[in-house]
Amino acid sequence: MTAPLLAHRIGDEWVAETPGAEDRNPADPDDVIALVSAGTPAHLQAAARAARDALPGWAAMPAPARGEILFRAAALLSERAENVGRDLAREEGKTLAEGIGETRRAAAILRYFAGQTSEPIGEVYASATPGTRLYTQRGPVGVVAAITPWNFPIAIPAWKIAPALAFGNTVLFKPAGATPLTANHLVAALVDAGLPAGVLAMVFADGASVQEHWIASGAADALSFTGSEVVGRRLQAAAVARHAKVQLELGGKNAVIVAPDADIARAADMIVRGAMASAGQKCTATSRVIAIGEVAEPLLAAITERVNALRPGDPTDPATTLGPVIDAAARDRIAALVADAETEGARVAVRPDVPSRGAFHPATVLDGVTPGMRIANDEVFGPVVGLMAAADLDEALRLHNAVAYGLSGSIFTRDLATAEAFIATARVGLVHVNGETAGAEPHVPFGGMKGSSSWSREQGRSAADFYTQTKTVYVEGLPARGPFDH
Ligand code: UN1
Repeated sequence: MTAPLLAHRIGDEWVAETPGAEDRNPADPDDVIALVSAGTPAHLQAAARAARDALPGWAAMPAPARGEILFRAAALLSERAENVGRDLAREEGKTLAEGIGETRRAAAILRYFAGQTSEPIGEVYASATPGTRLYTQRGPVGVVAAITPWNFPIAIPAWKIAPALAFGNTVLFKPAGATPLTANHLVAALVDAGLPAGVLAMVFADGASVQEHWIASGAADALSFTGSEVVGRRLQAAAVARHAKVQLELGGKNAVIVAPDADIARAADMIVRGAMASAGQKCTATSRVIAIGEVAEPLLAAITERVNALRPGDPTDPATTLGPVIDAAARDRIAALVADAETEGARVAVRPDVPSRGAFHPATVLDGVTPGMRIANDEVFGPVVGLMAAADLDEALRLHNAVAYGLSGSIFTRDLATAEAFIATARVGLVHVNGETAGAEPHVPFGGMKGSSSWSREQGRSAADFYTQTKTVYVEGLPARGPFDH
């Protein structure tokens, strides 16, 4: 089978450029999945012009009509979930079940925001001045740039693009370089659902030229970015210089606290799932485990048993439970962090073998991690978790919060007061009790505190805060009557 050539989406056209760059399977270096059109400044500029031109028409379309298109795209994506999920697994390396699950999740996100188009868009107030009708109305921000990572190559683009479109914005989409085929499936579903010309552009281009031609140029009125802290901060500075609205979702260093009264089997299940699913490549992944007192030993035994039961291999094989990481450079970076932790005094408690071909990194559990170590502070973004010891709940809560990030955290306990202490003090945007740190439902806010986000939240009703702006309307000089005159 020859690899397809993926085209940019600009205006009303698919624009292909040869020769394309290779999109390779991280589990099999010989497998070229697709060729990817190179994006030039001219492509980026043409996409930006088309998005600007399409804005008035799209913003003026009744919101429920925009919602109909999103509902259709959701249905198409659901129908295509098996194929799209398989391509996602082959391209990104997460397991088939995760790939199909993520595609269904993207469809659910599209449906949720389609439904938002029939929700209220403002509020009516009583004015202090007689004869004045006073209300608010939300409308689009304008042209929105969505810059997204490879680790959730369809769910994260969906959770930016769907609300942007639902609320009447047009979108400039730059997918991650490693996952163009999955991005193409999302855009194709929206195009096939009847999205008008120019409303959504997708250009495959390098980050620097996207920053120059979409952000620094002022082409985008708003930027929503999920990815690394370094890139996020750079984009934020460029956007702020143009007075664009900015939303960032960056890293995490998420911890699970296990109290002495916890259900250890459940805690171990959730820790291993949180740390090893998607090969640990989630900003919500479990990266630290803080064991209180004597729970440490049985907990480590239970975690070890589950890590040994993982089945590393080809992610498109349904039996596989641990796929590769995104590429060989990521594997080597993760391995270096683990080696560094060992030098600093941590001990590898379990690290079962993985295939030598492909970008596999073994599932790794480190014991004896202490707060000063790099592994206790830096985001790993790989299948690695570090165990730390705490004498009591107070120490555990201190350790939990002693990192620069604040995305997600969890505690395992059967005691209500212990759970409440955690809920009250955890400096994270997502708090779990007796659950894994990863995962996000589409209809509730998602985001972190401290270094993890830029204060704003995505998804749920929070999405409207970012993708709309508010107009306050005073209609004055009316007869001095209330709405319920007697
Ligand atoms: C999840 O935990 O299912 O990039 C979602 C990330 C996050 C999304 C996590 N922004 O990993």
